[in-house]
Amino acid sequence: MSGPTRTELRLLFGPQVLVDVEPCIHGLDALWPAEAGFVAHAVRKRQREFASARVCARRLLSQMAIQPTAIVPDADRCPQWPGGVVGSITHTRHFSVVALAPANACTGLGVDIEPRTSIEVELSRIICLEPERDWLEQHPPDQRGLWVRRFFCAKEAFYKAQFPLTRRKLGFKDVHVRFADPDSSSPHRFTIAVIGDAADGSAPARPADRAGASRFPLEARGRVVDGHDHLLAGVACPSVQPDADSEAWAAQPGAREPSRP
Ligand SMILES: CC(C)(COP(=O)(O)OP(=O)(O)OC[C@H]1O[C@@H](n2cnc3c(N)ncnc32)[C@H](O)[C@@H]1OP(=O)(O)O)[C@@H](O)C(=O)NCCC(=O)NCCS
Repeated sequence: MSGPTRTELRLLFGPQVLVDVEPCIHGLDALWPAEAGFVAHAVRKRQREFASARVCARRLLSQMAIQPTAIVPDADRCPQWPGGVVGSITHTRHFSVVALAPANACTGLGVDIEPRTSIEVELSRIICLEPERDWLEQHPPDQRGLWVRRFFCAKEAFYKAQFPLTRRKLGFKDVHVRFADPDSSSPHRFTIAVIGDAADGSAPARPADRAGASRFPLEARGRVVDGHDHLLAGVACPSVQPDADSEAWAAQPGAREPSRP
């Protein structure tokens, strides 16, 4: 399986986000003591993906001139980044991908990697909202399964971006993805918005999260990049509501093209 290329990684976000990939070749010996306990009893595959993500993340932190630290998961499995940094991790069996940005550029980042294979179109009933399924209908039948996979990948990336801020377990039908153009070529730009009851940011999931309620990311922008045998999705949550000129949007996919979603 070929991993994401530099070009694919560069296409995922705006210029303030660093993204890198690491083959899953590292084991427990690459982990810091505070990290090792989290996967000491895990299967070898899990140890390799966890360790490779940390190796990759520490390389990116160094590039940001930030002292590398142990990156341990919290009780909800969110990686704990050093102060002033937001980030996200995704794995395949063969590769770990990490995205990091300064916290003043965006409030949350999400990345996800999925195989570039069709999902049974019937499963769109679980993954997609009614308007998203209507949008799927604009495509020839043989392309719809891959678009279902892109919806899935986009929603997973958004989930990872918003969760550390909100601690909300959003479902697939709590978010609406709007791809820019049914005929677009990769990267496929999209906006994503929390809808319905889930969009009530004044009622965070737990009292302890109330401080984060005002930062509830109701909308974000993202991209899905088609790789050779994988899809990559990247989402960056702004710290304020969308404003094409704001500092926050500089981290967003398409930041240099504010007129496009
Ligand atoms: C958490 C979840 C997104 C992880 O995705 P996955 O495909 O299983 O695994 P990936 O390899 O892509 O990502 C794993 C990484 O996600 C990160 N992660 C795990 N839980 C997380 C959370 N709650 N918030 C943010 N990041 C999280 C971790 O960094 C993990 O890597 P690590 O264990 O090495 O630290 C997924 O398991 C999940 O629970 N999804 C919820 C349902 C959903 O996506 N709904 C969409 C509606 S918005």
